Amino acid sequence: MNQTTHRVGVVGGDGIGPEVIAEALKVARAAGVDLSTVDYDLGGARYLRDGTVLTDEIVDEWRGLDAILLGAVGTPEVPPGVIERGLLLKMRFDLDLYVNQRPFTLAATDPDRQLDFIVIRENTEGTYAGEGGFLRKGTPNEIATQGSVNTRFGVERCVRYAFELAQSRPRKHLTLVHKTNVLTFAGDLWQRTFDEVAVEYPDVDTAYNHVDAACIYFVESPQRYDVIVTDNLFGDILTDLGGAVSGGIGFASSGNLNPDRTGPSMFEPVHGSAPDIAGTGKANPIAAILSAAMMLDFLGESDAAARIRKACADPTALADTTAAFSTEDIGDAVAARL
Ligand code: IPM
Ligand code: MN
Repeated sequence: MNQTTHRVGVVGGDGIGPEVIAEALKVARAAGVDLSTVDYDLGGARYLRDGTVLTDEIVDEWRGLDAILLGAVGTPEVPPGVIERGLLLKMRFDLDLYVNQRPFTLAATDPDRQLDFIVIRENTEGTYAGEGGFLRKGTPNEIATQGSVNTRFGVERCVRYAFELAQSRPRKHLTLVHKTNVLTFAGDLWQRTFDEVAVEYPDVDTAYNHVDAACIYFVESPQRYDVIVTDNLFGDILTDLGGAVSGGIGFASSGNLNPDRTGPSMFEPVHGSAPDIAGTGKANPIAAILSAAMMLDFLGESDAAARIRKACADPTALADTTAAFSTEDIGDAVAARL
């Protein structure tokens, strides 16, 4: 067993966030990993209390950590964008977490229905960059623009990561998803970059799908996919669909990665804070547990990560468990299976 102590910042956040993170930490520790955690009280509730979203001082403190584990942030009382842009996107941008890696697996009994694909979502650019603004706001002549920022540098490092990942997997297949038939500027940059990088990976098979067609394939034949690379907004939407077709969003994990390791990466379930079920014990902690497993992989604890994934992967036991037991029971059941 690896005896390294990993320093992890923990943002439980709002709603079901702290509940699922408690189970994720329980399972990680039960796997024998030595974690030294620092809690950060951030999210919608903190903002409502004292106006703090995320300060530069906290971000600087995080730079010295090994990883960050986040539950979910956001409360209905806070206007849209405050927490999303001020906390989550600030983390992604300031820590240069330029890859958002979202794996989807489904261990169906029928082998033809089994799923195992990964979406690589560019995580620092596109429409999320915040380019745009209002002109004559609130008047009948109001104008609002919201541009998509795509840099050669940003696209290339993301595409390169996706090729490396595809090359490391048995199928060695990578699909670019975009909307090159309409987004002829951004799409052209993505396609050209993809084609140029592809030359360096002759053993990786490539494909291209328009994002609308990809939505059909996600529902009808997601088995075709191995690794997908796409822009920030398409990746956001596609990964919710990915969750829906691979058992539900309660199983979808993610890593916001700084592959250059110039600072910590951040791991979070794809789902949100689900205030409607907060405190009921109904939240499925598997997405948070699998996000913690991704974190452990990234920290070099691949043996513990594999054991956690295996403990989460038994489809029949898990189906029974999630239907019958609480958030805590599921965490306990996974920990007991390790
Ligand atoms: C996600 C979320 C975020 C996103 C929101 C909360 C800003 O939907 O991580 O997928 O759009 O990236
Ligand atoms: Mn999303």
